[in-house]
This record gives sequence, C-alpha cells and structure tokens, in this order.
Amino acid sequence: MSSMAKDKEKSFLLFSSSFSYREVKPSSLLRRFRFVVFVVLCYVLWLRLLFFTFPPESSSSSERSVAGGHRHCRLSRSLDACHPDIAPFYIHSIHPRFNAALMQRCLARPASCDVCPHVGHRGLGRPLLRLPLRADDVVGTSWYATHPLAAEMLFHHRAERHPCRTTDPEAALLFYVPFYAGLHAAANFRQKNHTRGDALAVDLAAHLSSLPSFRRHGGRDHFLTLGHASWNFMRSPAYPDLGTNRLLLLPEVANMTVLTVERHPWEGHNQFGIPYPSYFHPRTAAEVAEWQAELRRLRRTHLSAFVGGLRSDEDKGSIRSTIMNQCWKSSRCIPVDCEAARHECGDPDRVLDVMRRADFCLQPPGESFTRRSTFDAVLAGCIPVFFSEHAAYTQYEWYLPGRPENWSVLLQRDRWDRVEEELARIPRAEVERMRETVIALIPRMTYAHPEANRSELGFHDAVDVALVGLTRRIRASLRREGGVKAT
Ligand SMILES: *[C@@H]1O[C@H](CO)[C@@H](O)[C@H](O)[C@H]1NC(C)=O
Ligand SMILES: *[C@@H]1O[C@H](CO)[C@@H](O)[C@H](O)[C@H]1NC(C)=O
Ligand SMILES: *[C@@H]1O[C@H](CO)[C@@H](O)[C@H](O)[C@H]1NC(C)=O
Ligand SMILES: *[C@@H]1O[C@H](CO)[C@@H](O)[C@H](O)[C@H]1NC(C)=O
Repeated sequence: MSSMAKDKEKSFLLFSSSFSYREVKPSSLLRRFRFVVFVVLCYVLWLRLLFFTFPPESSSSSERSVAGGHRHCRLSRSLDACHPDIAPFYIHSIHPRFNAALMQRCLARPASCDVCPHVGHRGLGRPLLRLPLRADDVVGTSWYATHPLAAEMLFHHRAERHPCRTTDPEAALLFYVPFYAGLHAAANFRQKNHTRGDALAVDLAAHLSSLPSFRRHGGRDHFLTLGHASWNFMRSPAYPDLGTNRLLLLPEVANMTVLTVERHPWEGHNQFGIPYPSYFHPRTAAEVAEWQAELRRLRRTHLSAFVGGLRSDEDKGSIRSTIMNQCWKSSRCIPVDCEAARHECGDPDRVLDVMRRADFCLQPPGESFTRRSTFDAVLAGCIPVFFSEHAAYTQYEWYLPGRPENWSVLLQRDRWDRVEEELARIPRAEVERMRETVIALIPRMTYAHPEANRSELGFHDAVDVALVGLTRRIRASLRREGGVKAT
C-alpha cells in the first residue's frame, strides 16, 4: 500500500457520512470541494436521465424487471411499500464493538488488515470516476473499487434503509444481527491465542441468548452475514489451524441462518451463499438496463480471459498454473497475471476491460472454492468457466438459474489440459444464449448503492434476493412449528 494511495483513500473517507472524524488538510479540502461539485453535477445529470427514462406518467410503476433487459412494469400502489416476498425484518442494535467500532479501527489504522484501506464510503471503497462508458455519462458515481470482502458492510447499510425493515421487534419475522465477523477475522487472523480470537464471537452469542426475541425460536429466525468464507469461522479441535475463530460452531449461532460468500459445501447446512460484491452499485433499474444494453452491443475479440495469479510456490503444478500456462500460450486468451502485475488486478477498469473483450472467463479455484472474479465476470457479461461444482453451483442456490449449463461451463478434470479446444467447440448461437442468461443475472448479483432511494431502485438486488430466500426459509420453519405468525 503506497502512502499516496493511502492519502487518496483518506480524502475519500472524509465524505463518508458516518466516519467524518478525520482532520481536514487544506489539500484534501480542495479535493473535497472538487468532489462535491462533481457529485452535484452527477446528481443533476442523473435527474435528467431519470426524467427521460421514467417519464412522469409511468411514475406509479415501482416494479421494473430488468431481467433479460426486457423492461416491463407492474402497477403497485405505494412506492415505498415492502415487497410481499420479503418478510418484515428487525435489525438488532448490538454494541458498536461488533460493527461500527471495527470499521473505525480499520479506518484509523489501514495497515492493520488487507480489507482496512478499502472500507471507506460505507464499505463501497474508493469511487471510480472514470469508468463511465461515455465522457458525459452519469453512471460514474455508481462504480467503486469495492473490496471482495465488503459484503457484510454493504448488506448492513442496505438493510438499514430497506422498505421491509421494521423497528418493532414484535412486527418482525426475521432478525438480522449486523456483526462484521469478516472484518474482525481479517484484523485478527494472526491471533494465536484462541481464547482471545474467539472472545468477541463468544460475547455476541452470550448477548443474543439473553434476548427474549432470540430465545423465542431458539435463534432460528435470526441471521448473520459474513463477508468471508465460512471456514474462517469454523475452527474446530479437529482442524485447529483452519479458521480464525469458532463463531459458526457456537450453539447459539448453529441455529441461526448464515449468509456467506462461501458456504462450507459439506457442513454448511444453515449456510447460504451470497455474491461477492463487484464494482457496480447502481441506484436505479435504468442504470442497470443501460449497462446491460452496452454489454449486448460489445463485440468480443477473444475466446477467453483469465485474471488471477499463483498465490504461492505450492500452486505451481496446480490447476491454476495449468490454466494460466495455456492462457499465456494462446493468442485467443487474454491473461492478466496478478502476481506480476498486482496493480492491474486491483484496477477495476483493467479487469472489466479484459473481461468485456472475452466470451469466456476462466475461474480455477484458488485458496478456496469461490472467487470474486466470478462476479466480475458476470458483471462484464463474460461466461464463467468452472473447474469445480463448488465454485458456484453448490454455493449460490438462491441466485443461479436452475440449469448451470445455460449460463456457465463446467470442465471436468480430464479436460483441464485442453480448455481452449473445449470452449471453441461450443456453437456461436449457444454462446450468445448463455451470454444473454449471464447478462440477465446482473441485477440480482449486484449490491445496489446503500443510499439508493428505495422508490427509485426498482429491481431486486443481491440483498433483496437474500431476504426473499430468508423469508421462504423462516415461513417454512414457522409453518412446521405451527407458529401463528407464519402467514
Ligand atoms: C490467552 O488469553 C487469555 C485471555 O486474555 C489468557 O487468560 C490466557 O492466559 C492466554 N493463553 C495463552 C496460552 O497465552
Ligand atoms: C437450538 O434449537 C433447538 C431446537 O431445535 C433448541 O432446543 C436449542 O435450545 C436451540 N439452541 C439455542 C442456543 O437456543
Ligand atoms: C436451458 O437449457 C435447456 C437444456 O439444457 C434448454 O432446453 C433451454 O432452452 C435453456 N434455456 C435457455 C434460456 O437457454
Ligand atoms: C426519493 O425519490 C422520491 C421520488 O422521486 C422523492 O420524492 C424523494 O424525496 C426521494 N427521497 C430521497 C431521500 O432522496
């Protein structure tokens, strides 16, 4: 992390509403002023765009489906009403040491963990002001250099302004516990003393079990959201070196539903996959539709692309290096080597540019099964190529179409040495159909801007899809219990 980048990040943090406690330097004041002017300008342009895409006579339509890019409107009485597929939920107000204080400590000491320099702007990270498709485009304020592990913060901030949120626990069917467990783990992964590493999770469990609302259903109507892979929170006596704490094995949490960017394929019965955040955080369905239309117009020049690197020497000879070598050798594959060119991989413009030029994006597993890159690929309309069913199919069941072959390719081990041959055999028409399915996935895979105006959003984003899934689960569970509220 260069100090210049840090300064940049600092100045951006100044605009983050909840964390504006840093002292203001004259140089950052100037930048701040420029940024404010930019935002105001964007807002004006955005209003203009809105006026053209949502003419006044259609303002009664709150539901705009952008799936497949075919926009159609359904009438709905109230713009701010909670969608019937989502149950009213209550957000527990837990002590700031479980969330806000973790974030503030991160902001104050960015070097203390990998995620820390990127949690500004309520978890969105640094705004990308250059990505818009055309110079005068307004979508710039919806693009951020979001860290892959920011899901728990984005989820929280979106949930806070969600139309289905209730402030009355008696009216709630679902209870959200906004613990930033991933951020805590990231800052403590070197902690060798297990008692200390587990302390915060143990505290949280003790607090929850003291609450009548928690005890009522043994925690089964409660949920947590994790920005990290679940195995980070499943340290057990059998695998003492795997994971930073045992949050998910605590009896209180074992009854809860856990949303995580990577579920444990075999032991995660109460775990459900949510997308890794990518770079696009739209505020309106119109913005999404515009991006989708742009992707459909693109002419793709390459068969495949691979953005990634070998994490260590151990990876040599692994599936990753097999894939990487094939990509390097072929003129039909664009490689971006994240070890040799780390800055390129951290540059969303570069990543999306490469992925937008290819039909297929290769997703070999790294340290674990899943990769954020899969979600970058979807955002770029690039068909993901998997090497394990646990890279997505067993992970994100609430989000994916029933038929994996309609939007992705799974290569079994015996084909790993001839990736290009396999991909080149897929007929053009089928590639087009698959790409269309991928592009249609974008809205539900996306974390809308946390400040999105609820009446303007007009599509179900990743948070909405999770809430729909949670609602189905809790309604089924209450029905089994014969609960009166299960209507
Ligand atoms: C671990 O931390 C706890 C609490 O701070 C302390 O009581 C204990 O002695 C520590 N254990 C070791 C092995 O250092
Ligand atoms: C978990 O649920 C079971 C019933 O399924 C209940 O007996 C148990 O007390 C619950 N655990 C906690 C910690 O509430
Ligand atoms: C999905 O796949 C099935 C068979 O694999 C096919 O019949 C169907 O038309 C596909 N749907 C789309 C939208 O491509
Ligand atoms: C959200 O949009 C509606 C309709 O355009 C507007 O009336 C309302 O003031 C907006 N709310 C916020 C917080 O911007």
